[in-house]
Amino acid sequence: MEKFMRHRRLRRTNYMRDMVRENHLILDDLIYPMFVIEKGETKEISSMPGIYQYTLADFSKELDELNELGIKAILLFGIPECKDAVGTGAYHNHGIVQEAIRIAKDKYPEMLVVADTCLCEYTDHGHCGVVEDGYVKNDESLNLLVQTAVSQAKSGADIIAPSNAMDGFVYAIRKGLDEAGFTNIPIMSYAVKYASSFYGPFREAAGSAPQFGDRKTYQMDPANGREAMRELESDIAEGADMFIIKPSMSFLDVVKEARGKTDAPIICYNVSGEYSMVKAASLNGWIDEERVVNEMLISMKRAGADMIMTYFAKDIAKRMKEVE
Ligand code: PBG
Ligand code: ZN
Repeated sequence: MEKFMRHRRLRRTNYMRDMVRENHLILDDLIYPMFVIEKGETKEISSMPGIYQYTLADFSKELDELNELGIKAILLFGIPECKDAVGTGAYHNHGIVQEAIRIAKDKYPEMLVVADTCLCEYTDHGHCGVVEDGYVKNDESLNLLVQTAVSQAKSGADIIAPSNAMDGFVYAIRKGLDEAGFTNIPIMSYAVKYASSFYGPFREAAGSAPQFGDRKTYQMDPANGREAMRELESDIAEGADMFIIKPSMSFLDVVKEARGKTDAPIICYNVSGEYSMVKAASLNGWIDEERVVNEMLISMKRAGADMIMTYFAKDIAKRMKEVE
């Protein structure tokens, strides 16, 4: 009789380790976020090496490459030519995202197009809703978000992903989609969204930094874990189909707890700041990017995520192709 456990027995060879591995990264689970611009040239985002703002023409070409690589889902953000107080560009039937959705669905009907539903890229003040006396008004914003979601669905979006963090957005958007005849379009809700500094590079990418104040009156305080469960429960009750937790790396406890509350798909959003940190360290030769990325993303699966939104999706797809 041994006096201790020999855990190393199951780690002896590659095949043995492969056999007992509990979690896997596969392309099916990855969603690749992309930015399309209405005006100007395609441009790399300085704080996110390898990620671009695409003109529609270049977006169309990029889709060919993604399709070739086996990417099955993209998440779309638009940068409009004009911004105004009520984010008109977000729900314009020929807005930048609406046009991009049409291009994607026309070229690759099977590719899943997820539309991020928010106003911050389209408002001149950079907030996710309408502002009055410096405060982002909740119910007044819902109506515009519903219009945005419906126009995205009309353009052919497969999934609506509202990120605006107003109260009742799932209820309002579900009702709006149903009334417009889109009963079959699922809502992938940003159910748990923290007011995080990890969104910094995204705001450069999307040109959506708030022009005054911050988003703390609508996004969550990073200090709170129990509150995240209340956010999740309300979105379950309002009829969301899938649930995003964002950011990921510093919030895996929340992912794990959410896993115990719903059997529906949970998505980790591996956000811009998480991407930039790894890229920066890697460009300095300080870490092994490929292995660090794999470890980061598998930790999200281990915590309970079914899918991952990640700017690394294309890199990963390329590596998988090389191994084939
Ligand atoms: C829009 C939105 C943001 C992100 C996704 N949708 C920014 C924000 O809320 O300020 C962040 C994504 C990232 O950092 O990669 N509301
Ligand atoms: Zn927003």
